[in-house]
Amino acid sequence: MIYCIFFLISFCILNVFSINTDELLKSMTLEEKIGQMVQLDISLFIIEGTDEVDYDKLSEWVSKYKIGSILNSPFSFGPIDGKSGWTAIEWREFISNLQTLSMNNKIQIPIIYGIDTIHGANYVYNSTLFPQALGLAATFNTEFAYLQGQISAKDSRAAALPWIFAPVLGLALQPSWARFEETFGEDPYLVSQMGSNIIQGMQADANDGGIPSRAAACMKHFIAYSDPEDGKDRSPVQLPDRHLRQLYMPAFQAAIDAGVMTAMESYQEVGGVPMASSHEYLTKLIRDEMNFNGVLVTDYQEIENLYNWHKVADSVNNAIEMSISQTTIDMSMVPLDSSFSDNLIDLVNSNKISMNRIDSSVLRILNLKNQLGLFSDPIPSIDDPLLATVGQDSDWNASLNSARESITLLKNNNTILPIKVTSNILVVGPTSDSISSQSGGWSLHWQGGGNDEFPKGISIYSGLKSVMEGTVEYLDGPSINAINLDGVDMSTIETTAQSVDYVIVCIGEGPYAEKPGDISDLNLPAGQIEFVEQLQSYGTPVIMVIVSGRPRLLNGAVSASNAILNAYTPGPIGGQAVAETIVGLNIPSGRIPYTYPKYNANIPYPYHHTPSDMCGGSSTYTECEVEWKFGSGLSYTSFEYSNLELSSASMGEGGSINVKVTVTNTGVFTAKHTVLLFLFDIYRRVTPEYKLLKRFTKVTLNSNQSIDISWILTNEDLKFVYIDSRYVLESGEFRIGINHDSDCRNNDWSTNDMCSSFDLILNNNNKCVYTEQNVDDTCVSSATGSSVCYDPFIADDEEESNAFTSSQIVIVSILSVCCCLLGVFLGTFVDSSTFLCINKVFCCKKNNKGDNSDFITTDVKESLLYDKVSIDDDSIEKKSRFISSPN
Ligand code: BGC
Repeated sequence: MIYCIFFLISFCILNVFSINTDELLKSMTLEEKIGQMVQLDISLFIIEGTDEVDYDKLSEWVSKYKIGSILNSPFSFGPIDGKSGWTAIEWREFISNLQTLSMNNKIQIPIIYGIDTIHGANYVYNSTLFPQALGLAATFNTEFAYLQGQISAKDSRAAALPWIFAPVLGLALQPSWARFEETFGEDPYLVSQMGSNIIQGMQADANDGGIPSRAAACMKHFIAYSDPEDGKDRSPVQLPDRHLRQLYMPAFQAAIDAGVMTAMESYQEVGGVPMASSHEYLTKLIRDEMNFNGVLVTDYQEIENLYNWHKVADSVNNAIEMSISQTTIDMSMVPLDSSFSDNLIDLVNSNKISMNRIDSSVLRILNLKNQLGLFSDPIPSIDDPLLATVGQDSDWNASLNSARESITLLKNNNTILPIKVTSNILVVGPTSDSISSQSGGWSLHWQGGGNDEFPKGISIYSGLKSVMEGTVEYLDGPSINAINLDGVDMSTIETTAQSVDYVIVCIGEGPYAEKPGDISDLNLPAGQIEFVEQLQSYGTPVIMVIVSGRPRLLNGAVSASNAILNAYTPGPIGGQAVAETIVGLNIPSGRIPYTYPKYNANIPYPYHHTPSDMCGGSSTYTECEVEWKFGSGLSYTSFEYSNLELSSASMGEGGSINVKVTVTNTGVFTAKHTVLLFLFDIYRRVTPEYKLLKRFTKVTLNSNQSIDISWILTNEDLKFVYIDSRYVLESGEFRIGINHDSDCRNNDWSTNDMCSSFDLILNNNNKCVYTEQNVDDTCVSSATGSSVCYDPFIADDEEESNAFTSSQIVIVSILSVCCCLLGVFLGTFVDSSTFLCINKVFCCKKNNKGDNSDFITTDVKESLLYDKVSIDDDSIEKKSRFISSPN
C-alpha cells in the first residue's frame, strides 16, 4: 500500500513536468517518427578494441536517423583492455553526451537507453549483483523480489539507464535450456508472484534515493520462448494454444496487471509462426485480450530474422512489412544498421504500411519516455545523489539475505548438517572457489565474468574460511568439464580427506547465457560424478554443494553424498550464504522451484504434468521417478501441519472458500518455512494438471511455536483454458493438498490429513460456464440467457434434442439480428475479433478488414474449428465454410 502511494505521488510529480505527447507526435515528420521505432546496439559506435565512443559516428546517426533508443554495454562480450565495465559515473557521462546530441536535433526527443539487468545492474560496474532468478524463486519470498527490483532499478538509474530488460517470465520446463537460471522456475503461480513483485520494485522509487530512481521493467520473452521442443535455445516451440494460455499467460497477465511498462517478444516460432510475425500473439493476445498498452520491443535482430533465419520473408523489406503489419511491435532491436529505418520509410511512402500504424507505436514510445521523466530531465547531470548508493552495504546485505533463503537442503542423512564450526574440513571441486560459477551468465559480461574480475565476491571456500574455527584445507579437483579424473592428484586428496571430519565438494557449471549455453547431454560431466564417488570411498562424510543454473543429472553423486545443498547461482557473495548454511548460522529454508530430473528420458516432467503422463518399465503406469520434487527443501528443524479445514464443502459461482491449516515448528531451531497449497481438479473436460500451486506463505517460527495460515480461494483459482482458448469454470470436485509431496489424487487420499475436498456448484446447475463475457456472449445471453460453454461430451443426437424448436429459432433469429445491428454499430469501435457462436444460433461476426459485420450462420464445431483463423474475405474457401447453413 505504502509503495502504491509512493508510486502515485512520484507519478504525479513527474506528470507536472510531462509533455503533451499527442501534440508532439503531430509535429513530427515520418523520418522522425520512424527513428523513434529504432533501437541500435552501442557496439556500432564503439571504436574497435577500446571502450571509447566514436562520437562523430554517433552524432551522424543521431542526426540522420533520429534514433529513439540504444541498448547494450560495450563490455557485453568481455573485458576490454583489462577493464570489465563502465561505472555508473562513466555511464552517466556517456548518456549525458548522447542526450546532448539528441537534443541538438530539430525535434528534441531524448533517447531511451535499454539494458539487460538480469540479477542486479549487471552492466554497471560496482553495482550489487543478486542470486539469479531461479535462486530468488527458491526463497519463495516475494519481498526479496520487490527489493531486488528496486535496487536494480536504482543502480541502473544511477547510471542514467532508465529501461531494464527484465524479468524473464517463461517457465523452466526444459532442464537443458540455457536460460533456465533466468526464470523463476516451472510453476505459473510462483513465476507470476515473483515476476509481478520484481516489476513493482523496479517501477517504484527507492525510498532512499533521489527522484526518479525507478526504471521501466520489460516482461520477456513474450510468449512461450522457454519451451523449445528439443531443449535448445531459440528452437521451435510446438505448443497448443490452450496450453500456451494455461501455462504461460498467467505470469504475463500478472505483470500487465502490476503495471509493467514494456514487453519484449521472443526469438522462437510457435507452431511454425515466428513470434515477430505473429498476429495471433503480438496483436490479438497481448493487446486485445491481455490489454497491454506499453511499448513492445523485439528481441535482438528479430525482424530481420524473419528473412535470414526463419525464412518466412524473402527480403528484409518483406520481413519489416510482415512484422509491422501483422503485429503491434513498437520498436525494432535492429540492431546494427539502418535497414529498418530505410525500408520502413519506403513502406509507408508506398502505402504498404499506414501512418496510423506508425503513429500508434510512436505514441507509445513517447509516452514511455514521458512517464520516465526523460523529457523533463533529458541530460543527466554528473553529480546525482544516486551515484553514492551504487553497491552500498545495505544492498549487498539484501543480496546476501536473498542467497541465504535460497539455499535448499535436499538431503541430510543422519542430520549430518549443520557441522560444528570447530570441525576440520577439506574443500574441493570446480565450483568451490569460483565467483564466476556462483554468479552465472549476465554478470559483467553476457557470458559471465572471469573469477578475478568481480569487484566484490565471496567464494564458498573463502566463506568457509571466515566461518570455520577448525582447519579448512583446499585442494584442486577435476575441472568443470572433466570427463574423468586424469591429471587429478587423487592420492593427496585421499590422504587429506581421511585426515579431516568432512569433505565439502562443490560441483556444477561455469557461467553461460543463451545459445552458447546449449548442451547436448544433461548429465553432469562424468569427471565430476566420478570425483564425488571417489571421495565417498575414502570414508569421510561427503557434503555436496550444487552450483548450477540448471539441473544437471547427478547419477551416483547423490547416493555418494551424505548431505546435499542446492545453491543455484547465488551471486558473487553467495559463497558466504553457503558457508553459513553448512555451519548452521543460516537455517536453510529454500524450496526447489522446479522438478529435479533423475533420468534423461523422463524430461520434461514438471510436477503439473497431466495425470496420464506416466512411466512404464517394470512398474508400469506410475509417476516417473524424479531426483527431487518441485517444492522439496529440508530444514535443520522440523515442521508439522495439522487441522486442515475448509470453510465449506462447496463453492458457488462467484463464491469463495477459506482454507486454514496450522503449522508448528517441532524442532529446536527458529526457522523460516514456506507452506504450499496445491489444488487438484479431479475431473475436467480437458485433461487437468496433476495438481497446481495456488498459494504459498513463508513464515518464521520459533521452536514449538504454531501459527494458523489461511487463504481464500475463489472462482479465479478454479478456472482453466478450454478448447476454444477461453477461460471456463466447470462444476465438480476439487481437492486441496498441503505441502510439495501432497498427493490427493491417489486412492487413499481421504485418509490423508493434508488433503480435503469441496465441490464447485454453478448457477442453474450448469456444468460449465465461460468466466468472462465477451461480445458474442452478449449476443448469446440475450438469446438464451446464459453463456454456457460448448460441451464436447454431448453427442450429436443429444445436441439435436437440445436444439431449438422452430419457434425458438425465429425468436432467437430476431434477437440475433438486433444483436447484429448493434454489432454493426459497435463494429466501428471494436477491433477485428472472431466471435464464438453457441450451437445453431445466428451470430454476428465482424470481418478482419474492419468493414463491419457479415451476417453468418454457423455450426458451433465449425466456429470452433475456425476460431483461430482470422477471416479473410478474399478467401472464398474459408468464407464459404462460415456461411454454410446449419442443417
Ligand atoms: C536476449 C534478450 C536480451 C537482448 C538484449 C537477446 O539475445 O534474448 O533477453 O534482452 O538480447 O541484450
